[in-house]
Amino acid sequence: MRVALTGATGFLGLRLVRELLEQQPSLTVLGHAGSGGALGRITRFMELGGAPAGLIAELPARLRVVEVDLCRPELGLPSAEYRRLADELDVIWHSAGNINLDDDLGSLRRTNVEGTRHVLELAAAGARRPLVVHIGTAFVGGARRDGVVYEDELDDAHGFENGYERSKYEAEVLVRDWSRRHRRPVVVMRPGVLVTDLPPSPELPAHPLQFLSRIVESSARGGGLGGKDVPEWRRPVVRLAGDPRGHLNLMPVEHAAAVMVRLASRPPSGLADTYHVVHDHDVATTVLTALVERIAPVKVRLVGKRPDDPARLEAAVDLYPGFTPYLSHRRRFDDTRVRTLLGPYSSGVRVDLDYLTSGITTSRTGSTTGAR
Ligand SMILES: NC(=O)c1ccc[n+]([C@@H]2O[C@H](COP(=O)([O-])OP(=O)(O)OC[C@H]3O[C@@H](n4cnc5c(N)ncnc54)[C@H](OP(=O)(O)O)[C@@H]3O)[C@@H](O)[C@H]2O)c1
Repeated sequence: MRVALTGATGFLGLRLVRELLEQQPSLTVLGHAGSGGALGRITRFMELGGAPAGLIAELPARLRVVEVDLCRPELGLPSAEYRRLADELDVIWHSAGNINLDDDLGSLRRTNVEGTRHVLELAAAGARRPLVVHIGTAFVGGARRDGVVYEDELDDAHGFENGYERSKYEAEVLVRDWSRRHRRPVVVMRPGVLVTDLPPSPELPAHPLQFLSRIVESSARGGGLGGKDVPEWRRPVVRLAGDPRGHLNLMPVEHAAAVMVRLASRPPSGLADTYHVVHDHDVATTVLTALVERIAPVKVRLVGKRPDDPARLEAAVDLYPGFTPYLSHRRRFDDTRVRTLLGPYSSGVRVDLDYLTSGITTSRTGSTTGAR
């Protein structure tokens, strides 16, 4: 069986490669053309992540890299090469994407929507009718802040917190329409926010909480706040819009990849099988504010709405506007389908303040800035 994967050098894609190699003798990596060095980056991840030496040594033989640009028709490949690729594939994992919550909608759509369209076209062109496994996000649920979001729901009734959510919603609509029109099965994985406790490295892709920590840290530095060991009483209060009873689903990326690969190996129903790949316990918003207080010498106070008169520091800390609304979320993602198929499962990993701190702090310096 020939399996291909987009986004293999990404935060999630690297873990998918590792999981898929447990099942497959070889993989076709659809690397990002112009970004370069996919094999080297995957190898470095395996080394930093403690993969067995035998597996690392086999990577050049087991991974075939084809450089593509998802934003271009036929993935930017010469026609003959595109046809050959399409005809040899049995499964296409589509994990590439633009995860910058605050990027302009045009750029987000180019990668997340048009990129997905081009992957679907590749699947439609293939003689072997490959199965498409699309990596979506639980956040297609949009700006709905309360209640339960179910796996079969997909609508834009609540609007979206940011352009990223909208682009991922549009991509999933495309995937479902394609499945209906072509009568082809697809599998849609919807993870929560992906996190890790593997310390950051300039050689590894950054993840959403790392973006957040970088912004907070540089705001604090810009505000002349000094080091993290400033005593409690000297820390300025920073008001952030959020709900102290709120919670957010943070899923260890390694566990997410393992669950996804198990789900994808089940026989598809023939329609769009959609799964919430989420942690069994949400993380309280107050844990996230405690994380901010670990990164910067401030006291965070959650308030009902964004202050009309933000102090300079408050305005600076709020430099990740795509993320701030999540501090007000209290919804849950139902994952009944996943549990029905896999049985009760738990990563056994407690995502708490220490876990999250580990994933944003380089052990050598205690700095949170080590990212690509
Ligand atoms: N991270 C999360 O918390 C999270 C949560 C829910 C869902 N997801 C979804 O999971 C998927 C993977 O996210 P991630 O965190 O792994 O993202 P990431 O670390 O930013 O990785 C993105 C991947 O996409 C590739 N890529 C970007 N533009 C491309 C293009 N035009 N052509 C070919 N490849 C391109 C990148 O290659 P280069 O690195 O070489 O540019 C990289 O391998 C995305 O679909 C995302 O929406 C992520």
